[in-house]
Amino acid sequence: MPYRFALDRPVYSDLASGKVLLAARGHPAFPIRLASEIFQRCMAVREGSGLTGPVRLGDPCCGAAYHLAVLGLLHRASIRAIIASDIDPDVIPLAEKNLAMLSAAGIDRRREELAAMHREFGKPSHAEALAAADRLRSVVIAQSEPPGVCVFTADALAACDSSHAISAVPVDIVFTDVPYGRHSRWQAQTAECSNPMERLLENLLPALHPGGLVAVVSDKQQKTLHDRYDRIEKFRIGKRMAVILRPNF
Ligand SMILES: C[S@@+](CC[C@H](N)C(=O)[O-])C[C@H]1O[C@@H](n2cnc3c(N)ncnc32)[C@H](O)[C@@H]1O
Repeated sequence: MPYRFALDRPVYSDLASGKVLLAARGHPAFPIRLASEIFQRCMAVREGSGLTGPVRLGDPCCGAAYHLAVLGLLHRASIRAIIASDIDPDVIPLAEKNLAMLSAAGIDRRREELAAMHREFGKPSHAEALAAADRLRSVVIAQSEPPGVCVFTADALAACDSSHAISAVPVDIVFTDVPYGRHSRWQAQTAECSNPMERLLENLLPALHPGGLVAVVSDKQQKTLHDRYDRIEKFRIGKRMAVILRPNF
């Protein structure tokens, strides 16, 4: 897949998962350049439809919200709010902590944690993480107000009605890295769901502002299809498949 937007290859080491930003245990980190490319493709599609200005970005399977936090740091000016949820209550504190780092107070708290680890253990990795936190802090404070952040626990596959949590705060772009591979599986609190992708897309319809887009990353076994969406883009990157969809109502 040729990159169209994330053309340069800056050193992303300050954003590496587990350094300053946190990753959920056992989950491979979402590739930073790919996250940036997909987000910018969505923004370009919006612009092509005459929609400009910062967006509300959502992810109903956010895990530790690592890729959302990366986007918040790389594309702050294009993001006005981030709405993140996951079925697993254990990852929610990580998501909150990662997204808090988009504000000076949050990155300062993380810096303090890293400084304490450095004082206690003095490992070179702690010194590197501390230096990375300082550089990220200067990025954060150079930017305008941090985006609004909302993080909560929700089953994205629960039967959709007007009270479904994921539709409570509509968004302009959903960018979700759904469960696939050896590291994460679809879970559902209610009855078995035979086609999780279809259910997810159905549930996202009321969660989108007019002109809203859904970017889904999965393995190629999961078919990201739904008759109420048009497929705008589809591309493969290694084992991953990325699809950008727009509701056709
Ligand atoms: C690949 S991980 C997402 C990792 C995330 N992109 C990150 O950067 O940290 C997929 C997530 O989907 C969540 N998940 C599985 N079933 C779900 C459901 N029914 N509703 C919401 N989240 C679900 C898992 O708990 C897991 O955190």
